[in-house]
Parts: sequence; C-alpha cells; structure tokens
Amino acid sequence: MIIEPRMRGFICLTAHPKGCEQNVKNQINYVKSKGKIEGAKKVLVIGASTGFGLASRITSAFGCDAATIGVFFEKPASEGKTATPGWYNSAAFEKEAHNEGLYAKSINGDAFSNEVKEQVIDLIKNDLGQVDLVIYSLASPVRLHPMTGVLHRSTLKPIGSTFTNSTVDFHTGKVSQVTIEPANQDDIDNTVVVMGGEDWSMWMDALIEANVLATGAMTLAYSYIGPEVTEAVYRKGTIGRAKDHLEATAFEISKKMEGVGGKAYVSVNKALVTQASSAIPVIPLYISLLYKTMKEKGIHEGCIEQMQRLYSQRLYSGQEIPTDSKGRIRIDDWEMREDVQDQVAALWKEASTETLPAIGDLAGYKQDFLNLFGFGFEGVDYQADTNELVDISSIK
Ligand code: NAD
Ligand code: NA
Repeated sequence: MIIEPRMRGFICLTAHPKGCEQNVKNQINYVKSKGKIEGAKKVLVIGASTGFGLASRITSAFGCDAATIGVFFEKPASEGKTATPGWYNSAAFEKEAHNEGLYAKSINGDAFSNEVKEQVIDLIKNDLGQVDLVIYSLASPVRLHPMTGVLHRSTLKPIGSTFTNSTVDFHTGKVSQVTIEPANQDDIDNTVVVMGGEDWSMWMDALIEANVLATGAMTLAYSYIGPEVTEAVYRKGTIGRAKDHLEATAFEISKKMEGVGGKAYVSVNKALVTQASSAIPVIPLYISLLYKTMKEKGIHEGCIEQMQRLYSQRLYSGQEIPTDSKGRIRIDDWEMREDVQDQVAALWKEASTETLPAIGDLAGYKQDFLNLFGFGFEGVDYQADTNELVDISSIK
C-alpha cells in the first residue's frame, strides 16, 4: 500500500510509519547534538506520543539517559486504516531507546481513568521503583470523569461577548472573518473539567499515595498565554479558564508534594503546530505570522527545540528554576519578545488571502502539519509499498 495524506478538515486521516519514524529520529538527533543534560533518571510522561509530550520523552531519554514510561491514547492500524501518528511515533521511540539500552515502556489507554493510573503505578513499582519527573502533557477534547461517569466536552469559545477576527484555512490559504458566539457557564465548566488541573492532581494523589515518587521529584504541566489577537478566544476564553485552573493546581500539588520534597510547575510554551492547536480558530493565522517573524530573526523553535531548552536551561541548569511573578516557567520568552510581538501585530493588520503568502509562513505551517502525520520528510521513500504492521514493542 502506498500511503498518502488524506485531509479532512483539521485532521489527516492517514499517517506514514516511516515518516513518523523519521520525525522521531530527527528529534533524537537534535537532542543528541546539544549534549547531555544532568537531569531526571526515571520519567513518567502522560501524553507522550505527539507534540510537547513526545518531545519531553525524547529529551528525557536521549538528553538525560532516563528510563521512560509513556502514556497515550492512540490507535494501532486496522483493516484498511493506518495507525494514528502517535502510535508510529511511540513504536519508533521505543525501538531507538531500546537500541541504546534505555528502558522504555508504554501504556495505551485513557489517562483520565482510574484503571490506567493503576496500571502505571504497577509498572513503576515493578520496573522502576519510583520516578523523579512526571510530565503531564494531555490535550483532549473530551474527558470521561472517573467518579461520575459523565463525559465532558471542552469548547473553544470566548466568554462574555461574541468574538470576530481573522482566521486562515491553512489548506487553501484563504483568510476570512470568523465569528464565535460566547460560551455559557456549562461550556466554561466542562472545559475546565477536561483541560484544567483536576486530572493532573488525581494523578499526583495516586502517585504520592502509592509511594512511587522519589525524593525531590518534580511534576510539570504545559500552558499557553499568547498575544492580544488570540486573547478573547484563547487566554480569556473557555480554554484560558482551564489553563488558569491548571496553573492554580500547580500550587496545590506542590503542597501535597512537600512530604517528598518535591514541587509542581507549569511551563508556558510557545505556539506550535500540533493536532491540538490546528483546531483552534485564529491560532493558525497567528502561527503563520509568528513563524515568519521568528524564522527571520533566527529564533524559531519546534517542540523538540522548546523541550531541549526547557530541560537544559530551566529545569536542570544547575541554577534555581526561574519563574515569572505567577510562579510559571517561561519558555515562550522568545515568542513573547516585544520586537516579535510588535512585528506580528503589525502584520496581523495587513493579513489577507492576497498578502499572506508574502507576509506569513503558510508553507511552513503546512509543512509542519504534514510532518505531524509523518509526511513531507526528506529521506523517506513515499512511493514505496508500506505494508508492515508496526508494533510498540512493550505493548503486547
Ligand atoms: P498533542 O495533541 O500533540 O498531544 C496530546 C497527547 O495527549 C498525545 O500523546 C495523546 O495521545 C494524549 N492523549 C489525549 N487524550 C488522552 C487520553 N484520554 N488518555 C491518554 N492520552 C491522551 O498536544 P500538544 O499540543 O503537545 O499539547 C500538550 C500540552 O501542551 C497541552 O496542555 C497544551 O495546551 C499545551 N500547549 C500547547 C501549545 C501548542 O501551541 N500546541 C502551546 C503551549 C502549550
Ligand atoms: Na503532547
């Protein structure tokens, strides 16, 4: 079978196993090129198969020589269907880790459930004893609450008033106005249940209770702030409320971790093309202007550059971990630089279907989007017959 990208809306229905493998190898090579990091040795990554979580797992393993357990929700290939990209990424990650003698095992299932938490704790007890870093990098539109059985759905809506601004269909390059009606209280509450800090807290409660956190252990979740143009739909919208909750939860978790001398942090990361961010209105247009600006200035980063810098220059630099006035680690510092934001704001005013090819990096956006699914990589023969069934070796 020759696997080609099949786009439907904001997703691609196919993924390429060799391309996903190449993506993982490229990220590993990048981390290796930056040298060793004196950091965590036993790491649990929740949301480990794509985006920032995958990059965190790769940095842990190939930067710090850490043993890793990865948790994710992905689908293996089935009759006439490829696996999801996170499946292929994880298979490639395990293969590369095992080749270097690094421990790597994975659990595929719903991280919001009690069962998966129990499975992970059993695995830690049996294989690692304890972990010294827990990365929480879930991005999900839904959460089945383990206590109530209610399925909560998150939304991406403004709060208080209708929001209208420019957006781009990154497949066609067409810039148009999008109008989003404000959320009601249920939308807000549900989004906080799905993407806020409750599940992170439940994970940490379970890990503390089971005594599988090492002395001085850290846990980290990821947040986003971004520019004024996306504020109404992002940071001051429903998802922003969830991020406020996530950030507040870090302080509560830190209190609970005092017993093991540990601490919880939120890292604010840069806007990047991932499956999660492509679905948010307005963000793709902002990202295409941001990419153009940051590439011009020589400060563009992808997930792996962000996570490698987070580990080497924030978490494990040998200095005290620097935080902002709200206790957050800022690795979005280059995105938020005044010269970058001023330029993007000026470009925003000019953005139209006609101007975007010149003032924005739509090509870079598309390339990154294809890359998420294992397409568009150099060194991959996309004409080759690709029939093998790819297994994640630790998953039987
Ligand atoms: P992503 O979609 O690439 O990754 C999500 C991960 O969560 C995958 O590994 C997926 O398998 C896993 N997952 C989803 N639902 C699950 C479930 N029920 N059980 C187990 N695993 C599940 O997302 P991402 O963009 O890397 O986002 C990760 C975090 O980073 C989020 O908190 C997001 O808000 C934050 N962040 C993203 C950006 C951005 O621009 N993409 C910027 C800053 C912060
Ligand atoms: Na992730």
